[in-house]
Amino acid sequence: LTPQIGIITASTRPSRFGDKPAAWIRGIAAKRADLEFEPIDLRDYPRPLFDEPVSPAYGQVKNEVAQRWAAKLAGLDGFILVTPEYNHGMPAVLKNALDYAYKEFVRKPVSFVGYALQAGPALSSNCDWSPGNCRWCR
Ligand SMILES: Cc1cc2nc3c(=O)[nH]c(=O)nc-3n(C[C@H](O)[C@H](O)[C@H](O)COP(=O)(O)O)c2cc1C
Repeated sequence: LTPQIGIITASTRPSRFGDKPAAWIRGIAAKRADLEFEPIDLRDYPRPLFDEPVSPAYGQVKNEVAQRWAAKLAGLDGFILVTPEYNHGMPAVLKNALDYAYKEFVRKPVSFVGYALQAGPALSSNCDWSPGNCRWCR
């Protein structure tokens, strides 16, 4: 069975640059025969800021968009997050998307394509802290 990898575009604003790095990494990914890649756009998962009664680590989310998001993540074996740097970290829309899931990331590899005006190291360290060291790659 060929592993399925989601390539997630993590900026949602109307004039985003994010389509360009997402297309770039999809072009590289398409050359691989050992993995299959699926583009995922956070624009397709509009959610409120996290307001669930229970952490997704402990229960099913109630929001319908978040349920669709969790189902999408559950069907994938790994992720490439294509993310800009906003104020030395990931954009709030990406953090919110990550907060809306938990078990769907566990024991799955997560990698990043980061981009920014100054390509700040803060983005990678911020993201290392999140999926790498805590839970998602566990
Ligand atoms: C709210 C906001 C905060 C930003 N903070 C940083 C930053 O800390 N460091 C940096 O190098 N660029 C920063 N930028 C520039 C963005 O990384 C750059 O414009 C990028 O292309 C935005 O991605 P997007 O167009 O896909 O949304 C920021 C941009 C915005 C809109």
